[in-house]
Amino acid sequence: MEGTGGSRWIRLCELSALPLVGARGFDLRGQGVDDIFVIRQHALLRGYWNSCPHWPGAPLPWRKHAYLCHDMNYIGCHGHGARFTLDEGLCVLGPCVGQRLESVALRIEDGTYLSVLCASDDVRTHVGLGDSL
Ligand code: FES
Repeated sequence: MEGTGGSRWIRLCELSALPLVGARGFDLRGQGVDDIFVIRQHALLRGYWNSCPHWPGAPLPWRKHAYLCHDMNYIGCHGHGARFTLDEGLCVLGPCVGQRLESVALRIEDGTYLSVLCASDDVRTHVGLGDSL
C-alpha cells in the first residue's frame, strides 16, 4: 500500500506477536541486521531506526531484540550505555544526552497487523509475518 512521497506501508507482524512489554527488531532489507525496532509497553507502541545518535549507524542491542534495559523502562544502547525514553527516544543518560533516536511511523491495520511506513528503497519487496520474531 502506498504512503506519501514514494514511501509505503510495510506489514511487520501481527500485533499479538509482540510481548505486552518488550521489543522486537526487524530486518527490513534482509541483510542480517535489524533496520528498525518496535517497543511496546502495554498501550505504548513506538518504532525507531536501529541507529544510535552517539555513533550514527551503530546498532543498539548486544543481541537480537535486546533493546530494553533490565527494568524495561528505557531503551539501551550497548555501545556506551546510553539510555533513551520509550515514548520519545530521548537520550537521558550517556554520551548523547539530549539527542533522539529517529522514529518511524507505525500503524495497526485491521486491528491485527502492525505496519511501518518506509521509503520504497529502504526495504525489500516482502517482509514475512513474524520474520524477525
Ligand atoms: S554507540 Fe550508542 S552510546 Fe555510543
